[in-house]
Amino acid sequence: MKSTRRSAASAHSWLEVNRQTQTPFYLQIYERLRAAITAGTLRPGERLPSARSLASQLATARGTVDAAYELLASQGYVVGRGAAGTIVAPTLANVLSSRRPAAPNTPSQKAPARKPDTVAAIAPKPFQLGLPAMDAFPRTVWSRLATRRARELTLIGMSYPDPFGYQPLREAIASYLAVARGFNCSPDSIVITGGYQSTLAMIARAVLKPGDDVWVEDPGYTDTSRALTMAGANLVPVSVDEHGLDVAAGVARSAHARFAVVTPSHQAPLGVTLDLPRRLSLLAWAIKAGSWVVEDDYDGEFRYDSKPLPALKSLDERDRVLYVGSFSKVMFPGLRLGYLVLPDSLVDTFARVRHILYRDGSIFIPSVVTDFMTGGHFARHVKRMRQLYAERRGALARALVDAFADRVNIELQAGGMQLIAHLGDGYNDVEVAKRANAQGLAVSPLSPRSVENHRGPALMLSFTNIPVERARREARRLQEAIAI
Ligand SMILES: Cc1ncc(COP(=O)(O)O)c(C=O)c1O
Repeated sequence: MKSTRRSAASAHSWLEVNRQTQTPFYLQIYERLRAAITAGTLRPGERLPSARSLASQLATARGTVDAAYELLASQGYVVGRGAAGTIVAPTLANVLSSRRPAAPNTPSQKAPARKPDTVAAIAPKPFQLGLPAMDAFPRTVWSRLATRRARELTLIGMSYPDPFGYQPLREAIASYLAVARGFNCSPDSIVITGGYQSTLAMIARAVLKPGDDVWVEDPGYTDTSRALTMAGANLVPVSVDEHGLDVAAGVARSAHARFAVVTPSHQAPLGVTLDLPRRLSLLAWAIKAGSWVVEDDYDGEFRYDSKPLPALKSLDERDRVLYVGSFSKVMFPGLRLGYLVLPDSLVDTFARVRHILYRDGSIFIPSVVTDFMTGGHFARHVKRMRQLYAERRGALARALVDAFADRVNIELQAGGMQLIAHLGDGYNDVEVAKRANAQGLAVSPLSPRSVENHRGPALMLSFTNIPVERARREARRLQEAIAI
């Protein structure tokens, strides 16, 4: 029987390359095919032309088409089917179905149900910050555990949850913190939250009065500052140097700030570690001033040249530290799951705030995460990711050095999920990042992260989603895009 599946080869004479622009051919091919897929012109399951035939149709090298196809595959638009060639990912059917071209003049044409860029927004772009390796999560294990939990509906699951969250997960987290982050705490002092950002909002709600001073790192994590500003805090930027937060500078600016927010393991964004003398003086300040320290330990697990350092909380003998953990980096951010370890003296305050204001959080996801942790999958996954990130980080650093020679200076910190490429003086990193991102990359300029303690020009580049075998190509793409 004759196959009814149509190849896109002949049918798409619109797929041409423009030889007048500086955009590399493979990017042009990628962009056209991506647009065709998201517009519904190429449908899920439809076969793309073979790389050889498309290369000959476009009068370009076969490797150029291969590179475009690999990029599409890495972002989930297409999948290879061996001898059957490359097809548009069938799994896109659900995502794209609401965006099929509608009959002319129908209301849905005027008001598309989804933003045109939904699929692209989901797939990690090269160098995109803040995402763990999306290709390396053990999905099969997760699906098995989730399916099992989805089939059961217990009385606990049907009732109002504990205001501090699912008790077995709090127990699992307490055990994990003792082993992996170097401190003991009671599950009764742990609150399950919707991730770092909502934890911070809750902390502000519970302990802050409008107009209170709060120390934030400079340069720092912009979303911390935004959340605190929305909560009415008066931000006090405290400079960060190679030893971490300059505590003496903070004391000089605001000795009685209500709290300080710090990223001691790998400072966000510089990646430096808060050293021991600074850790001790930060705690001494909090004790003396009656202030609190909020420890944001978002990626403390990922250290490459030594074992992960214990958390600042492990030194907190006088109970001044609110420790904030997130599952966004060690598992994946779509979980929207984090936790807060409270000092004993704040447990009652937070119990009231939780009971009245935060009755969110079903137990379904927490119960699956509990199984993931108690079954040993979590520890195994984190260990694997540490190894994988060490490899990806090394490969990208080498590739960048090859692509840029000494025109950029690559800074590798001991840990974290990104590296910093310092540009020479005179460059505007915001403009350079715009150039790169116009070509489908997602680099972030460093300078906007500073308030007074100016750093840069530099680009922050995540390596977590760049497989070793793609490092050279992405480094070259960056070099071509920014032409430095
Ligand atoms: C400095 C910092 N803290 C915390 C987080 C985690 O945030 P969330 O738990 O809301 O995903 C991130 C994520 O990028 C971060 O960069």
